Amino acid sequence: MKKLTLNAKDFSYDIFFGEGIAADITSLFALKGQKTCIISDSNVAPLYLEKVLAALGGGATSYVFPAGEASKSLDTCAGIYNFLAKNEFSKTDALVALGGGICGDVTGFVSSTYLRGIPYFSLPTTLLAQVDSSIGGKCGVNIPYGKNLVGSFYQPRGVIIDTAFLKTLKERDFRDGLAEVIKYGFIYDEKICQWALSGLSQNLSDIVFRCVGIKKEVVEADEFDSGLRMILNFGHTIGHAIEKLGGYEKYSHGQAVSIGMAAAARLSEKAGMAKEGLYGKVVGILEKLGLPTRCEYEASQLLSTIFNDKKIRGGKLNFVLLKDIGQATVYPLDKESVEEFVEGAL
Ligand SMILES: NC(=O)c1ccc[n+]([C@@H]2O[C@H](COP(=O)([O-])OP(=O)(O)OC[C@H]3O[C@@H](n4cnc5c(N)ncnc54)[C@H](O)[C@@H]3O)[C@@H](O)[C@H]2O)c1
Ligand SMILES: [Zn+2]
Repeated sequence: MKKLTLNAKDFSYDIFFGEGIAADITSLFALKGQKTCIISDSNVAPLYLEKVLAALGGGATSYVFPAGEASKSLDTCAGIYNFLAKNEFSKTDALVALGGGICGDVTGFVSSTYLRGIPYFSLPTTLLAQVDSSIGGKCGVNIPYGKNLVGSFYQPRGVIIDTAFLKTLKERDFRDGLAEVIKYGFIYDEKICQWALSGLSQNLSDIVFRCVGIKKEVVEADEFDSGLRMILNFGHTIGHAIEKLGGYEKYSHGQAVSIGMAAAARLSEKAGMAKEGLYGKVVGILEKLGLPTRCEYEASQLLSTIFNDKKIRGGKLNFVLLKDIGQATVYPLDKESVEEFVEGAL
């Protein structure tokens, strides 16, 4: 078993890595008889809830919501608040998120607000949640006006990254996480790209461990997202516009981010930030991993979505660009140059 400790502003917490280690949840999280409620979704619960309840020793309760982004809502939170209050959960009790990024974001937000804050632990079960969303304390829900518009920064008390969970993931969900994995390779450590290309399944635990190590470093340097943490948005500005234009149905988050990363690589080259050839390298890596690099939208359509969304018509937007594979930088660009540079990448 491996371990990393994340030093957040208010306290530090451990992140444990290993295959099958979720069975040791009680000792790893040093749970000492406090009441626990496992929060999970309707896909994950039938696969793993009984095992985790048994590992917690029988005294734990659970709350299961329907799987899917529609459940990342204030309504789901209200259901959980009522359940916790009815079962007399106090500030010294704890919640455990057992699921993907949606479950983690909801559980974190409920924990940060129920009784003005109770502890929560995380058992991420998707690749995306293991390498990204379960670490760093960003949590929240969607409202009809937009995604992630309500939320807070609230760190977990411990995270168990058990790669055994990944075996039951659907191909599409695995690829979504893979896009975020490769993002770390592009922005921070080229070795991740090499590991992924030379044998994804053999190298998966090393890849996950390295990605979490990077996320830890970035979060420790910028816990509240005012500087360095922005580099984690590589590919996301264009990616979010692709998701939105596709009505959140046509392209999954990972597919949209993958296309967004290819476009941002082209931008990096055209803006003179990276040497010629970077775009080709980035596209080559994404394609070898079965990730998409193009979509049917025009650059002008995407750019209107981005610039209208951000309410900065006429102004400049900070884009995460690459100097090379493994090195990211943030650079302000206006709409015209982004449109000119991205044209041809889509
Ligand atoms: N908080 C953050 O820092 C952060 C970062 C990135 C993304 N996010 C959020 O994360 C969410 C996406 O996360 P996600 O991709 O994990 O989505 P998800 O939680 O919906 O999981 C994807 C699908 O896989 C299923 N699933 C989960 N684990 C499984 C397993 N082990 N076996 C079989 N099926 C399993 C789920 O039921 C779901 O159908 C988005 O809402 C996004 O906004 C948050
Ligand atoms: Zn993402």
